[in-house]
Amino acid sequence: MAPEVYIENLSNYVGKEVKIYGWVYNKRSSGKIRFVLVRDGTGILQCVMAKGETPDEVFDKYDILTQETSLIVSGIVNEDKRAPGGYELHIKDIQVIHIAQDYPITPKEHGVDFLMDHRHLWLRSRRPHAILRIRHRLVKAIREFFDSKGFILIDAPILTPAACEGTTTLFETDYFDLGKAYLSQSGQLYVEAAAMAFGKVYCFGPTFRAEKSKTRRHLTEFWMVEPEVAFYELEDIMNLAEEFVEYIVGRVLETSKKEFEILERNTEPLEKIKRPFPRISYNEAVEILKKNGVDFQWGNDFGNTDETIISQQFDKPVIVHHYPAAVKAFYMKRDPDDETYALAFDMLAPEGYGEIIGGSQREDDYDTLLKRIKEHNLPVEAFDWYLDLRKYGSVPHSGFGLGVERTLAWICGLDHVRETIPFPRMIYRIKP
Ligand code: 4AD
Ligand code: MG
Repeated sequence: MAPEVYIENLSNYVGKEVKIYGWVYNKRSSGKIRFVLVRDGTGILQCVMAKGETPDEVFDKYDILTQETSLIVSGIVNEDKRAPGGYELHIKDIQVIHIAQDYPITPKEHGVDFLMDHRHLWLRSRRPHAILRIRHRLVKAIREFFDSKGFILIDAPILTPAACEGTTTLFETDYFDLGKAYLSQSGQLYVEAAAMAFGKVYCFGPTFRAEKSKTRRHLTEFWMVEPEVAFYELEDIMNLAEEFVEYIVGRVLETSKKEFEILERNTEPLEKIKRPFPRISYNEAVEILKKNGVDFQWGNDFGNTDETIISQQFDKPVIVHHYPAAVKAFYMKRDPDDETYALAFDMLAPEGYGEIIGGSQREDDYDTLLKRIKEHNLPVEAFDWYLDLRKYGSVPHSGFGLGVERTLAWICGLDHVRETIPFPRMIYRIKP
């Protein structure tokens, strides 16, 4: 039954007879002409039949073609500027495979909760389809970038013995006779080990946070790409992050024009994403908040609204660096010139989207790192292997993590991350 021709390739088949394998997206009739919109996963094709021209027994099948009925439709491909997609199929035959009954997602408006409950079916609709095609291209661009620069992909484990990003958002499970295991919050500690073996590495996989917050930016399961490079200092890793974001945005713009049109995403702001990006210190960011009337307490981390205000001041992603060490993770190296600050940075996306990247230079001194682990009340025995990296040829090294869903929400201009992942996991959603 394998399809040979897909809708996205029809330009090669003008004037020829083809078979399209797909599903009924919609239909309409006007007098003696009947239109069936067929989707095949690569596009939507207008198929036409005319009373008198199409054999009667085919013409009459129109009545049983409910929304999402699966079928094979044969006919001649015609170029037609008026048809959606620019091509039309003149139907010669229709072979029905399975009649769909009462498909719940009709062309009328539905609420987002209803659609999320039917996510397994909603994926067939234009908008989620466009977003997830862009996701595919974004993921491809991410891999292309690191692969072309000689980074080695190192898959980090998902079951881990300890926290990487703070103990309040850990998912916990029993692990046989060994006590507790936790779903990974970040592959970072493992790519640090790998960077000492391979120099330039990255991991790319799902990560988990038991986020109690119900915001438009938080998922409990999300995908993160995490490069880590030996001998890189803060400045070097910020340069890499900048080049990386310029590249992935550029690639998605090149490859996803059609999808951006479906989403009605104005891509002009994305065309501006060219290096250099603005860089400001935490202290300068605090000044921006004060100027905008925010009653911000120095020393706190930025909340969603703070990030929105800061990022709205720029038309490119802004890098904020030198955060107070007290609000950042245990593994970050302190600024040797002033230990109040960590050699850390976040990248905030424009148009008010906020943080898409978090990164830092890592503490590379054994005694200092051990002290930090204790200060953060983390179990030292779970980190013995991580401390080893500071015993045998320790070097300065740095890395960052970019969240795929937040980046995609920005690129697609969406107001919530839940639409950027095929099956979102949130505090109040585990199904489908
Ligand atoms: O800033 P975070 O917590 O950094 C780390 O995990 C580091 N260990 C990364 C590293 O240096 N290798 O998370 C990095 C990014 C954020 O900037 C954000 O894009 C995304 O991961 N992120 C989330 N995305 C969706 N839902 C959540 N709950 C997220 N938490 C973080
Ligand atoms: Mg962060």
